[in-house]
Amino acid sequence: MRRLIVFGLVVVLSILSLAGIIDEIKKRGYIIMGTEATFPPFEFRDEKNQIVGFDIDIGKKIAEALGVKLKIEDMAFDGLIPALVTKKIDMVIAAMTITEERKKTVNFSDPYFSAGQVIVVRKDSEPLKTFDDLKGKKVAVQQGTTADLIVSEIKGVEVSRFQRFTDAFLELMNGRVDAVVLDFAPAKAYVAMYPQLTISSDILSQEEYGIAVRKEDKDLLEFINRVLRDMKKSPYDILLEKWFKQ
Ligand code: ARG
Repeated sequence: MRRLIVFGLVVVLSILSLAGIIDEIKKRGYIIMGTEATFPPFEFRDEKNQIVGFDIDIGKKIAEALGVKLKIEDMAFDGLIPALVTKKIDMVIAAMTITEERKKTVNFSDPYFSAGQVIVVRKDSEPLKTFDDLKGKKVAVQQGTTADLIVSEIKGVEVSRFQRFTDAFLELMNGRVDAVVLDFAPAKAYVAMYPQLTISSDILSQEEYGIAVRKEDKDLLEFINRVLRDMKKSPYDILLEKWFKQ
């Protein structure tokens, strides 16, 4: 009898794992996206404390295409991949740069946005133009980001690591650090919010964002890539496809 139960359990479990994550998501009725919401315009909180942004709208499109609701988990950026691997979330949409290192642990969708790092300083301080200019300076970054990696490799930089960009920028305005290094679009958004700050460098790196999923969730990866491709199609492309590509 005991053996039969064990056998039954093994069969049920293997059917479940065969069914794939998409079936699991459809059955539960929602997909969970993990993000870190101090990164405007990709993910941030509006006046009503709702998480909104470009990545949230992409998440909504994916949920809509699956016919389920979107659930958002806001957490520390360096906790996103661990949360994905331990199945607390189904995907990461967090303006996350596709890197070789991260690719060892997760799979990334096709790139959906091109980005790069810039340096933000106070207007009344010396303009720092290159990564080299950061030598001997105090620099704030978000923990676990590509900026953290880049700045930590420069010798002679005192790096302060924060979970939330709001705290990194407070530190800059209080004069406790000389610069914040982050992606260009959110840098622009923060500088617009805090007029005493300015972007002092050109774009210093070339990066591309992807949506991260677990290695084994091939079905979800394919589905997400299809949604991204469909979103990029213009009404004209759709007509061309309808009438010419058969
Ligand atoms: N693109 C950078 C990276 O992948 C920073 C992303 C930070 N994103 C966020 N939602 N806080 O490391």
